[in-house]
Amino acid sequence: MRISVIGCGYLGAVHAACMAKLGHEVVGIDVDKRKVAELSAARAPFYEPGLEELLSEVQETGRLSFTTDMAAARGSAIHFVCVGTPQKKGENAADLTYVDAAITALIPYLAAGDVVVGKSTVPVGTASRLSELVQSEEPDAHLVWNPEFLREGHAVSDTLHPDRFVYGVQDASEDHPAVALLDEVYAVSLSSGTPRLVMDHPTAELVKTAANSFLATKISFINAMAELCEAAGADVTRLADAIGMDDRIGRKFLNAGIGFGGGCLPKDIRAFMARAGELGADQALTFLREVDAINMRRRTRVVELARELCGGSLLGKRITVLGAAFKPESDDVRDSPALSIAAQLQLQGAVVTVTDPKALDNAARRFPELHYETSSEAAVENADALLLLTEWQEYRDLDPYELSNAVSFPRILDGRNVLDAAKWRAAGWTYRGLGRP
Ligand code: UGA
Repeated sequence: MRISVIGCGYLGAVHAACMAKLGHEVVGIDVDKRKVAELSAARAPFYEPGLEELLSEVQETGRLSFTTDMAAARGSAIHFVCVGTPQKKGENAADLTYVDAAITALIPYLAAGDVVVGKSTVPVGTASRLSELVQSEEPDAHLVWNPEFLREGHAVSDTLHPDRFVYGVQDASEDHPAVALLDEVYAVSLSSGTPRLVMDHPTAELVKTAANSFLATKISFINAMAELCEAAGADVTRLADAIGMDDRIGRKFLNAGIGFGGGCLPKDIRAFMARAGELGADQALTFLREVDAINMRRRTRVVELARELCGGSLLGKRITVLGAAFKPESDDVRDSPALSIAAQLQLQGAVVTVTDPKALDNAARRFPELHYETSSEAAVENADALLLLTEWQEYRDLDPYELSNAVSFPRILDGRNVLDAAKWRAAGWTYRGLGRP
C-alpha cells in the first residue's frame, strides 16, 4: 500500500520505517528540513535502539522516502498523523496546534476513499471534530483514531509487534470501510494473532489516556509506598516483589525511585485532568492530581537525601549525577526527573557534574548551566557523592570496589533502586536507596 506519515518525530519516524519494513511504500512528511535531511540519509535524529539500522535497511529497498512537501501525500490511501501534542505553555491542557495544522495542510490532497489515521495522543472529542473537518472538504474520506502504545527505547519492536490494535471509527462498526483498509496495513501482525479492537472515536481516544494514566498511577502508588517504607523502616523493593506476585497486580511498573518523566506520562495526565474539567467530570480525575504530586515530591526527596548523604550541606559539594535521560536507552530529556534533580542540586550550591551515554547534547541544550562530562570515569573522579538517576546498564554494572578509588568519599544514592545495597556497603560505601532501609 502507499502510505503517508505526517510528522517524523519519535512516533512518526519509527512508524514510517516500520510500515516500510512491513512492505508498504511510505513517504514521511515533516515541516522540519533538518529532520527530513537526516532521515533521508538514514540517520535517526534521536537515539532509538535499532532505528538507524532499520532506516538503512528499508531505504535500500526504495520503499521509504522523506520530504517537507505535503503534496507528496497525494495518491496515498492511508495518511497517518503522528505529530506532537505537547502541554500548552502555562496550562495543563494539550496543545493541538500541530495536529490541526497537519490535518488542514493534508486536506487539499485527499481523494475519495482515503483514510486519515490519527496516532497522536489527543483530548477526547478531537477525533470527531477532525472527522467533520475532513468530511466537510472530502465527504468520501474517513478519519480513524488508532492510538499508539510504543515505549521509547523499545519503539521499533513495539511498533512491529504491538500488544493490540485499537481502531476508533465513526460508527464503531466492524463493517466501516476504514477497518478493512487498516487491516491490510497491519496484515502481518494481525495474521500472527495480535488482537484488534474496533470502537467509536471517543473510546479509542480515551484508551490511550487511560492507559498512560494507569501506568502513572501505578508508579506513584509504589512511590507513595516508598514514602511509607521510609517512615516505617521497611523495604519497598521487597514489598513490590511480594505484591507483584499477585497476577492481578503484576510486578511491572512497580519500581519505586525518582518517579516518571518524559514527553508522555506527565503531560498526558495533566491534559486528561484539563479535559475532564471541560467535560464537567473533573471529580473523576482529581486522584491524578495526587499522582502528579507524589511524582514531583520524589525529586524534592532526592535533593534532601543528597544533602543528608553529604553530611547536612550541599554547599560546594562535588556531586556526580549518573544519567540525564528520562529513562535508559533514550536520549530524551523532556521532563527528565534526573536532570531536574541535577539542576536543583546546583541551585542549592552543589558543584554538579552530569554524565549520560546518549543524552548529554539534549541535556546541555535544556540546562546549559550544568557541567557535563562524556566519560563516566572522568565524571566520578573526586566526587563527594554519586547519584544514580537513570538506570543505564553500564551504571548498574559499576564495580563498587574499583569505583571507591576514584571518588573522594564513597557515598551513593541509588535513585532507581537497581544496585545491590549489600554489595556496595561491603565495599565500604554509604548506600542510600529510595524507600529502603
Ligand atoms: C509511555 C507508555 O509506557 C507507552 O505505552 C506510551 O505509548 C508512551 O508513553 C506514549 O504515550 O507515547 P514512555 O514515555 O516511552 O512510554 O516511557 P515509560 O516506559 O512509560 O516510562 C515513563 C517513566 O516512568 C520513565 O521516566 C521511567 O523511568 C518511569 N518508571 C517506569 C518508573 O519510575 N518506575 C517504573 O516502574 C516504570
